[in-house]
Order: sequence, then structure tokens, then C-alpha cells
Amino acid sequence: MTETMLVTGGCGFIGSCFVLQQMHQYPDIHLVNLDMLTYAGNPDNVKEIADDPRYTFVQADVADRPAVEAVFREYHPTLVVHFAAESHVDRSIDGPDVFVRTNVLGTQVLLDVARKQWQEDAYMDTARFLYISTDEVYGDLPIESTAKFTEDSPLHPSSPYSVSKAAGDLMALAYHRTYGMLTLITRSSNNYGPRQYPEKLIPLTIKKALAGEPIPVYGDGLNVRDWLYVEDNCHAIDAVLHHGTPGQVYNVGGDNELSNIDLIHLLLHALAQQTGKPEQDYTKLITFVPDRPGHDRRYALNSCKLSTSLDWTAGSPFMDSLMQSVSWLRGSW
Ligand SMILES: NC(=O)c1ccc[n+]([C@@H]2O[C@H](COP(=O)([O-])OP(=O)(O)OC[C@H]3O[C@@H](n4cnc5c(N)ncnc54)[C@H](O)[C@@H]3O)[C@@H](O)[C@H]2O)c1
Repeated sequence: MTETMLVTGGCGFIGSCFVLQQMHQYPDIHLVNLDMLTYAGNPDNVKEIADDPRYTFVQADVADRPAVEAVFREYHPTLVVHFAAESHVDRSIDGPDVFVRTNVLGTQVLLDVARKQWQEDAYMDTARFLYISTDEVYGDLPIESTAKFTEDSPLHPSSPYSVSKAAGDLMALAYHRTYGMLTLITRSSNNYGPRQYPEKLIPLTIKKALAGEPIPVYGDGLNVRDWLYVEDNCHAIDAVLHHGTPGQVYNVGGDNELSNIDLIHLLLHALAQQTGKPEQDYTKLITFVPDRPGHDRRYALNSCKLSTSLDWTAGSPFMDSLMQSVSWLRGSW
């Protein structure tokens, strides 16, 4: 039977990977992709399925209630996966307003329109809503600690971005508790892979290196992130959407902790191998710049709940997937 899924932000980095995976995995799906196409959204990210009759694209703002209502009235989705967000911490420091509008108001509008439509259609007991959250809602850990955040760790977000994501995350949980909606949350660590907008660390490093421009590194470069391959994250999202327990949060970590400077050296080594240029031509471009205000030191997630209850693992070998991502990104500009 055809099931209609609404994906928001499906022209962005992770959303497009999820859209492509779903279209390949579920022959009977009807997938509606609602995306406003901000600077971070690129329709080419999903061009290989754009003409598929099972796919519908709607250009709209998640915070525009009449536009979202029109989508629910026309397509009656019974699965919602909400990726759409302003996603760059630096931009949230320069201008937080749009982060509150999209990530907080937009999430509440989407939840509320879904709730009303599902009540009217008598889908409240079956339709599911997955909010894509982030490890950044937990705040950071000291570099020297070996602790990892669990789903029960308190929320201590640091930047306007992570605060806006935490607000959306808690709003989704409130719609479960208050209205009985079947909402679920994934909180993932930093994703890497193809189709990422070149303002984020990995594509930015590669783009600058190829252009022979300074490669900026914040502060001492020792901030640690846990890297997760985007395809593995999308498998986790699929598992939680279909089999997770409503009202629950699932951490999705990659178990690949690296300091920013070590990651940059790995990327430049890979680039030198792939282009045949001396590695020194790239490493000499590394330029330390003043630290980002409030820069989180270390993120680390415990994903045991997801692996034990839903049998998920971050299965992609890190170095292979990273090399493939470098190769893909290198060919994309
Ligand atoms: N990238 C990561 O490492 C990471 C890690 C954890 C969580 N997340 C979360 O995953 C989700 C996707 O992240 P990403 O890196 O793919 O983001 P992205 O910036 O690459 O893509 C965001 C997408 O949302 C769309 N969008 C933005 N504002 C919109 C609006 N008002 N209405 C409709 N569409 C809008 C954009 O056009 C774009 O296609 C976000 O919610 C983000 O917080 C990302």
C-alpha cells in the first residue's frame, strides 16, 4: 500500500541523502519534499529522482502555516521527517532571528498542522513524526574527559543554533506528552559525506585547499567532534521512524572522535593522494584564526540505546567513507 511521507529540508545535505535512500528502499512510497530552498538547499542534490512519479517537490517555508496546511490537505502524509533548519552555528551567532523563526516556530507550525490533520483523518494512533535534532543540545564535554552523553543527559545548549534546535526537540516531545502524537527524536553527531554545503568544516577545507586559499582553523584546533557517515545516519533515522518507541529520544553517534586539526590533516593527506600534489602544498595553507565565541570543546554520544533496541550500527568504515566523500566533494565544484 502506498504511504505518503513528508520530508522537510530534503534538498539539504542530510535530507537529500534520506530522500534518495527512501526512494530506493521503498518502491511503494509517495515522498513529498517540502523545502524553501535557502542558500543551503540545492534541488540538484535530488535530481536523480526529481522526475519519479512517486516524488513531489513543494517549495515552501515550514513556518508559513497556510502553505504547510495546504500540503497536508492535499497529500495527507502519515509519516513526517523534519530536517528543515538553519544549520550553521557561525550564522546563528551573526544573526539568530531566522534560527528562531525556522527552527522553533517552523517546528511548532509543522507539529500543529500535523496534529490537526491527523485528528481530522483519525490517524493520531498510527501517523509518526520524527524530529531531527543534534548532539549539540547537550552542550559540550571537557576534552580530557572520556564521558559520553546519553539520552538522559541534561540539555545545556551553547549557541543560538543549538538552543533553537533544543526548543524544537522539546516541542516535539511536548506534542507527544500533551496531545498523544507519535513523535520521535534522533540526536546525531556531526555528519560527513557528499552534498554538504561548503561552509561546514570538511567541504570548506577541501574547497579552500583546492583553491590554494588559507584554510581557517578556529582557536587551537583541538575541539573534538564525533564523525558519522551521513548514509549511516539516514539508516538510523529510518529505523527510528518505523520501529522506535514514540516519545523517545535516540542518540546516533559515529564513534569516530577526532580533533578538528587532526581531521584537517587527514583530509589534506587524502587530497594529496587523490590529486598527486605534495601534501605540503596543502598543509601550508592551514591558518589558525580567533576562536568562535562560545565554541564547544568536545561532543561524544553514547548510542547504546539505538544499537541494542533497534539493532543499528554505524557500519561504514570511517577511512573508506571519508576518502569517498573527499573524492565526491572534490568533483563537485
Ligand atoms: N549536518 C550535521 O552534521 C548535523 C548534525 C546533527 C543534526 N543535524 C540536523 O539535521 C538537519 C539537516 O541538517 P543539514 O546539515 O542537512 O542542513 P542543511 O543546511 O544542509 O539543509 C537544510 C535544508 O533545510 C531547508 N530549509 C531551511 N530553512 C527552511 C524553511 N524555513 N522552510 C523549509 N525549508 C528550509 C534548506 O533549504 C535546506 O535544504 C537539521 O535539522 C540539523 O539541525 C545536522
